[in-house]
Amino acid sequence: MLRNRAVILAAGEGTRMKSQKPKVLAEVLYKPMIDWVIGCAFDAGFSPADICVVTGYGRELLLPRLPNGVSAVVQERRLGTGHAVMQAGKFISGADANVLILCGDAPFIDSETVCRSLEHHTRAESAVTVISAEVENPFGYGRIVRGGDGAFLKIAEEKEASDLEKLIREVNSGAYWFNAQALLLALDRLAADGLNGEKEYYLTDAVKILRSAGYKTATFTSPSADCVLGANDRVQLAGLNEIARQKVLHKHMLNGVSIPFADGVVIGPDAAIGADTEIMPGTVIIGASVIGAGCVIGPDSYAENSRIGDRVRFQRSWAQGASVDSDSLIGPFARLRPGASLGRSVKLGNFVEIKNSSVGDGTKIPHLTYIGDSDIGSGVNVGCGCATVNYTGRDKFRTVIENGAFIGCGTSLVAPVTVGENAYTAAGSTITENVPANSLAIARVSQTVKKDWVIRKKPYSNR
Ligand code: UD1
Ligand code: MG
Repeated sequence: MLRNRAVILAAGEGTRMKSQKPKVLAEVLYKPMIDWVIGCAFDAGFSPADICVVTGYGRELLLPRLPNGVSAVVQERRLGTGHAVMQAGKFISGADANVLILCGDAPFIDSETVCRSLEHHTRAESAVTVISAEVENPFGYGRIVRGGDGAFLKIAEEKEASDLEKLIREVNSGAYWFNAQALLLALDRLAADGLNGEKEYYLTDAVKILRSAGYKTATFTSPSADCVLGANDRVQLAGLNEIARQKVLHKHMLNGVSIPFADGVVIGPDAAIGADTEIMPGTVIIGASVIGAGCVIGPDSYAENSRIGDRVRFQRSWAQGASVDSDSLIGPFARLRPGASLGRSVKLGNFVEIKNSSVGDGTKIPHLTYIGDSDIGSGVNVGCGCATVNYTGRDKFRTVIENGAFIGCGTSLVAPVTVGENAYTAAGSTITENVPANSLAIARVSQTVKKDWVIRKKPYSNR
């Protein structure tokens, strides 16, 4: 098969974002815009080796984030979109068919548009196919200029467009398919534009150049006008977030997820949710989170890169890098930190924190407890106010609580330590040694009662 390649332009600074970060790292639904665009290239069938990102401003922040195998080139000086593509010249020579150009700051370009425009490009034997869209307000975009016969002549940038051209509502999305050889030829002939004293190489001029060299040029109108949208400042970024939020919510609703009051509900583009799950207000589900069917999540809950099974009730709670199996009841006010892995029918109550620990099926940890670096079996009951003492200040150690054990209220388990199967710890114990199976460990000072001590000493009186 002939090899296509994709170049993603991401060197721009985005001055109006007023950020230390490059603009393409600004987030839409808590996912950097560049990740949306790279995701689109993957969905359209590109392998990482066939994707190259043109980096510039803030590249030290961008490079470590690129997926494995995706290459990058540097544009030292930002001399325009044409100049940016020139930096990838060697990479483009490695394509034997076509090159897709995408803007790293236009997150809504979708793989269907990319694939359908390639079919169009191939069928029409074009040297360049510009992905265009019809928009209400074309201000700032390059206009698609056609001749009387409808033939695509050129792209007129805002700065250079005539008054008549400014009325055109069909605009350049900034995404294109080029025949690789034709693109190299056009890059060779691109001249710097000196408008307003600033020298810039406009990629859009490639259309004119190829046309006058006798090549065919075409446009493909995207079915979704959102593919042109980008953000220059944080107000526009909030606008993109709202568009994306509504789209994702509608997708889930149509898939059978109930979101009766969507106030403050944010679902990331990569989250999956099963049918008949209800999402209550104030809930954020982001990253590669997977929520099962028939759950009730929220209100005011947060799940990031977490997996939740079926029929889980997850109330006013927090999960990051955690998993919860089916039929569990979490919260209100529970916190699952990375590496928390809960079995089926687990019950966690208020102010319970779990970190880097497994919790077996049917175990109950109902109140005010910290479990860290632990392996807890099934059918365990942890009383109110317990703590695994996992950290010496230098090293961390594990606690093991075997199946069916009963941890009395206020127990501290000083790791490394094991409580055996069905064993008990007495309330208030500080357990420093292993407790054998079926035994009771009492590790606290026995009670002493000093009769009539108060009458004798009268230590305090407010009467
Ligand atoms: C560009 C198009 C315009 C189109 C619009 C769609 C040109 C000349 N104009 O304009 O026709 O309607 O996109 O959004 O191409 N970049 C670099 N290096 C540079 C300059 C830009 O990597 O030197 C990158 C930016 O990071 C961005 C992308 O190229 O991701 C587009 O650049 P931008 O400056 O936003 O171009 P527009 O003025 O929006
Ligand atoms: Mg732009």
